[in-house]
Amino acid sequence: MCGIVGYIGHQPTAPLLLEGLARLEHRGYDSAGIAVLGSGEGRLRVAKRAGRVRELDGAIAPRYAGRIGIGHTRWATHGPATDANAHPHLDATGRVAVVHNGIIDNASVLREKLIAEGVELASDTDSEVLAHLVARSDAETLEEKVTQALSHVEGTWGLAVLHADFPDRIVAARNGSPLLVGVGEKEMHVASDLAAIVRYTTTVAHLEDGELATVTASGFTTFRADLTRTASVATTLDVDPASYDAGEHASFMRKEILEQPAAAERVLRGRLDERFGTAHLGGLNMDARESRAIRRVKILGCGSAYYVGQMGAGMIEELARIPANAEAASEFRYRNPVIEPDTLYVAVSQSGETIDTLLAVQEIRRKGGRVVGLVNVVGSAIAREVDGGIYLHAGPEVAVASTKALTTMYLAFALLAIQLGRVRDLSISEGRRLVTALQALPEQIQTILDTEEELAAVAHRLAQARSLFFVGRVRGYPVAREGAQKFKEISYRHAEAYQTSELKHGPLALIDPEVPTVALVPHDELTDRNLAALHEIAARRGPLVVITHPDVDLGDLAQHPEVTRIEVPRSERELDPILLTIPLQLLAYHAALTLDLDVDKPRNLAKSVTVE
Ligand code: F6R
Repeated sequence: MCGIVGYIGHQPTAPLLLEGLARLEHRGYDSAGIAVLGSGEGRLRVAKRAGRVRELDGAIAPRYAGRIGIGHTRWATHGPATDANAHPHLDATGRVAVVHNGIIDNASVLREKLIAEGVELASDTDSEVLAHLVARSDAETLEEKVTQALSHVEGTWGLAVLHADFPDRIVAARNGSPLLVGVGEKEMHVASDLAAIVRYTTTVAHLEDGELATVTASGFTTFRADLTRTASVATTLDVDPASYDAGEHASFMRKEILEQPAAAERVLRGRLDERFGTAHLGGLNMDARESRAIRRVKILGCGSAYYVGQMGAGMIEELARIPANAEAASEFRYRNPVIEPDTLYVAVSQSGETIDTLLAVQEIRRKGGRVVGLVNVVGSAIAREVDGGIYLHAGPEVAVASTKALTTMYLAFALLAIQLGRVRDLSISEGRRLVTALQALPEQIQTILDTEEELAAVAHRLAQARSLFFVGRVRGYPVAREGAQKFKEISYRHAEAYQTSELKHGPLALIDPEVPTVALVPHDELTDRNLAALHEIAARRGPLVVITHPDVDLGDLAQHPEVTRIEVPRSERELDPILLTIPLQLLAYHAALTLDLDVDKPRNLAKSVTVE
């Protein structure tokens, strides 16, 4: 959420910053801006405006001369998306420029104080105060000015500061919002996310919370607020820069949907044990004795990660027979939860940055609980905070609507459920049954992706509806929640998930020929009951899209003109949810395309929510 990029070196800076911002745009796309320090001129040139990064191209920005600069792409928190509220923010003299991610909690107090001292504020943002505080510091060095400024500030930040009086350096700081320094040949980068700089370097140093960095063209040093040096070193990451590009695909979302068979293989690779019908998850840092001591599992995540957490809880209860449930991390921390020593807490997050999930993890650990993480981004805040975990290996996920990361989360939960089960009551043959089924999943996912054309035609019709229901029971209910989430997120249609069994207790009142229902009807112990509910919908002339298995007989419903059948291959019943989820992604994707919407950057949203 919000993106920062900075550069110092021998290349023309403005185009480089603009390219970095375009690559960070999924993190916030309300407004964008850059500040470049012109060589010789000793003054900052700033272009910033509300709107997308490409709109800066029309401004003078690409032609700014200079070899040092900072840039920002914004997702509005304090103050609407206007030119004035766009970053970089400047002090009154225009000699200090600051880009900031995070929230300054005491911004209103600081703003009032600055106004009382005669400062004219140019924006409604919390971030602007930072530029004024740095400019007003009478310390000698830029490092001291920044640490002095930050000593007045409460909140979270990832920030970069450029000062016309110190043309050889950028000072960067991190506290709660990710920031890294990228090392090049006589050039250095600053970024909130590797995506911004991966084309130039994969040798990076991640700043720790409370750490600052001085970045010059020839290197970087890190230090703490008291100016004592820290020993941060850069490491070269094993990443393929091409994996951050959409390549031949029309959008990142489409690319990421299609990458799911490969991502599924990666998360399973080396972790399945066919012989003993179990999973090996060394990263959990838990031996069999500790696993057996777990009495309860509590899963925490936000949004779609929370819904996959519900799917995971279902698998853990079924396979390991441990009471398990999932809760929105955003709510958990505020109800003063009881933290139990024999509960395994599982934080699930693609980005590893979602602030609500991170704060929940910190709260649990503060109270002595054990937390493991299911995280995609290696070295992210949550990954670093937990006691152990399972990396998802989904590869970079850029589209705001999560797809491949969720699939890998589901599979990681399956691995965890099998491992916990096998040190309890799950028999070796049951374990082998599931291992075999897991191995078949990548190919089965591909089979569903191959039906894209058929799904696109159904999506085209669904896109015309003003409102839709997504329904499922037990294992199917979190799938319905995820389906509704994806649909509303990128098509802006009202989509509501319900337990199929609950329809008759209220929502059936809304069913009419204008309100379609997408129903999940797997072949399982509830098929008949699901079909009974579908008859109730059909009787009210509600259009139905039934996602089901080849061997499910829809009976009379099959002849109904308003019923569309979509088939997915069968897995073992515990693993069916993931295969039921895949067509829902394609329905949402094609509905958004039909409506001519930006599937990768839906309105009002941004990837990785780093504010509460
Ligand atoms: C929906 C979506 C969000 C995320 C949620 C958590 O498609 O992407 O609901 O799932 O914001 O994000 P992470 O997994 O990064 O913690």
